[in-house]
Amino acid sequence: MATAEVNDLIMRRRSGRAIAADIVVPAVVIETMLEAARWAPSSGNAQPWRFVVVKDSPIIDAARSALKPGNQSWANAAPVLFVVCANPADDYDVAGQPLYLFDTGLAVQNLLLQGIHLGLVVHPMAGWDEDAMREAIDLPQPYRVICVIAAGYPGNVDLLPEDLQKRETAERSRKAPAEICHYNRWTS
Ligand SMILES: Cc1cc2nc3c(=O)[nH]c(=O)nc-3n(C[C@H](O)[C@H](O)[C@H](O)COP(=O)(O)O)c2cc1C
Repeated sequence: MATAEVNDLIMRRRSGRAIAADIVVPAVVIETMLEAARWAPSSGNAQPWRFVVVKDSPIIDAARSALKPGNQSWANAAPVLFVVCANPADDYDVAGQPLYLFDTGLAVQNLLLQGIHLGLVVHPMAGWDEDAMREAIDLPQPYRVICVIAAGYPGNVDLLPEDLQKRETAERSRKAPAEICHYNRWTS
């Protein structure tokens, strides 16, 4: 498919894992990422997203422990975890399917792109134990944890577990346009 140049930020974004444990992410960087997320579109402007920025001990230790072991192996280096939450009732559904997750995903993408723009490694995760994460951040019901984002400045790839080192620099892959796009009618 012939295309014009895709926005550079979109092409540069990747879910990296090599994160420097000892470089602090300044408050202004965190706040700018949150600001980018805040301006995401949402159905009925419901803005269901909520963010808990976890960066201080002992809470970050508890949040790290709530990650699945495979994620802990690299994400525990991240000095910041954005725990993205939402209340399923904050939903402006007009078509019979919940939209709060969709809306929150749009805000997450804004946050990720802003993080890349500011030179960070940002990596969204679904691999965590919800009860443990809830307890770590004192999340009240009926909020759910939707996504956890590991963030920090780029670190040394050699410090990653061996199986992850190659993946860090491997080319990103996507389905072919023909597999996902149709014009006018669904064609099989
Ligand atoms: C909702 C969501 C959950 C994800 N969960 C994890 C995860 O638990 N662990 C992980 O290493 N990567 C996770 N990822 C990252 C994906 O594996 C990654 O986005 C995908 O392989 C495409 O690679 P790219 O983001 O570098 O383009 C997740 C991404 C999304 C959007």
